[in-house]
Amino acid sequence: MGLLSTALGAIGIPVILFLAYTYLSLLRNYIIALKVGVPVRAIPIEQTNPFWMIMDKKVLAFLKQYLPFLRGTSFARFNWRGFEITERYKPHHELGDVYMVSTPGRNWLYLGDPDLAMEMFKRRNDFPRCSELTESLNVFGTNLGTVDAEEWKRQRKIIATCFTEQANAFVWTDAVTRARDMLRYWTSKQSLTTAADDLRTLSLGIMSEVGFGESSKFEGHDERLQAGGTSTTSYKDTLQEILESCVLIMALGPEVLAKLERWLPKKLKSLQYACVVFQSHMTKMYEETKAKIANQASQAKATPRNFLTSLVQASHEMTSEGLTEKQLYGNMFMLAFAGHDTVAHTFTFAMLFLAGSPEVQDWISEEVRAVLGDRNTKDLDYEKDFPRLQRCLAVMYETLRLYNPVGMAKWTDSVTQTMQFGDKTIVIPPNTMVIPSYSSLQTDPRWWGKDSLTWRPTRWIEKSGPNGEEELITPRRGTFISWSEGTRDCPGRKFSKVEFVATMATLFRDWRVDPIPQNGENLTDARKRVLKFIVEDAAPVLLLQMIHPERIPLVWKRR
Ligand code: HEM
Ligand SMILES: *[C@@H]1O[C@H](CO)[C@@H](O)[C@H](O)[C@H]1NC(C)=O
Repeated sequence: MGLLSTALGAIGIPVILFLAYTYLSLLRNYIIALKVGVPVRAIPIEQTNPFWMIMDKKVLAFLKQYLPFLRGTSFARFNWRGFEITERYKPHHELGDVYMVSTPGRNWLYLGDPDLAMEMFKRRNDFPRCSELTESLNVFGTNLGTVDAEEWKRQRKIIATCFTEQANAFVWTDAVTRARDMLRYWTSKQSLTTAADDLRTLSLGIMSEVGFGESSKFEGHDERLQAGGTSTTSYKDTLQEILESCVLIMALGPEVLAKLERWLPKKLKSLQYACVVFQSHMTKMYEETKAKIANQASQAKATPRNFLTSLVQASHEMTSEGLTEKQLYGNMFMLAFAGHDTVAHTFTFAMLFLAGSPEVQDWISEEVRAVLGDRNTKDLDYEKDFPRLQRCLAVMYETLRLYNPVGMAKWTDSVTQTMQFGDKTIVIPPNTMVIPSYSSLQTDPRWWGKDSLTWRPTRWIEKSGPNGEEELITPRRGTFISWSEGTRDCPGRKFSKVEFVATMATLFRDWRVDPIPQNGENLTDARKRVLKFIVEDAAPVLLLQMIHPERIPLVWKRR
């Protein structure tokens, strides 16, 4: 008896203390939030708790199924990272343009008004990025994504040297080449379940080439397997493994991973190994580039050919202002990640939306044919054709509008900030997360009309000019913020547009894609199923993405 109660006490007391501490924190935060004077909802776990993040969607789905009274509570609705996507503009319509969610960690303030969101973006120093959330990107060193203030300014100046028109033109030709190879591979398949995987291979290939100067040829999923693609030797494969396991690295932290090395299960061991191989690849490339630049110093100044050489060269020229070796690795990793994962997920969403929408495929094919005339897709020209492929770009915008892959989290850090909203002054306490509600802003019927939740790329095009030329509309400021806004916006905006448009134009000129009907469905049913599946399957991993795109077998047919 005595023994049992001692044992229970030993386990129970820490648990009780922990719970008490957690809920006192929540209570304290709730009281702070109430003082702000906007509607407040409370949730028991902070959405960004790493352990909760691994299982949030599954646990909530389970609880909602077996404990129906939880449905519709703040816990069930708001207590996971993907809630903005499932809820869309509903919370703001119910609670107003500004509301708060209290958690035991921090309070989260959500801005659903476009002008407020824009003001927040503009006040970069008042609302810095909460780097705690991006720390996992520090695996190989601090970088642009994780630093702030003066250090950010310095790094941003150097990183900006990568994003030239020359680089964009390189992205264009590389994307066309890879997309042609991918199309050849896809059209040889009776049933294609690896489209998402192949699209990631394509965007990773472009990033490796444009970023690191590592040339390679596109290989489809099966070709990679045949070529022994699982052996982690090339930079591209190791990077892929690291990025696929980013959430694990985030939950455990790279140091823990390194310390636990001996006890790690096989999968994590291989991840640890991939990190080591990737690091040595970068060191090798760095040394080679440095040597090359030293050799060229005597000759006429050679133009940098890729991101790595740009950064090494810029750091070399700026001497003390330049990046240290460690920061260079940090930034190369961050660029490799930011530069391919975002586009890969956008591609996958777009591909499935297109598979469900044959009329949109016809619409973009018509444009590509008009622009190309009798030229071949391999002659797609960056300067001449990219600005004219507006419908292809509209497909990207519309996809991002609904499935914005990158969430944006700023905060007040240790300072109190105020914002003016109408005749009301909102006083935002320190340690408050400030979130532009992108998924609400980008779907609010006030700005996007009654069918705002429908994927309809034609909404982006208006006919203007005497001959009915098509032009992209400019949405109201603050209602389309996929690449973020203000000085800390995405420097890869054009890079990603160029990559997307080149790939779409190459794929859809002469071919169309359909879902394969299942269990006696006809094609119409199959298309409906696909559009429904996108809504159900999308969820955040590190970015917002499709979780099981392979569940939609596709087939390509010639037009
Ligand atoms: C569809 C594609 C893309 C989308 C939707 C996107 C979106 C974003 C967003 C929303 C941010 C700000 C994040 C925040 O405030 O927390 C960001 C930052 C960034 N993106 Fe992108 N991005 C895309 C493609 C790219 C590409 C292709 C590259 C590089 C090749 C890139 C490089 C970066 C970098 C370096 C930053 C950090 C900027 C800074 O902190 O100063 N992105 N991106
Ligand atoms: C497809 O099947 C559905 C019923 O499942 C039917 O209502 C529809 O008319 C069919 N469409 C075509 C084009 O045959």
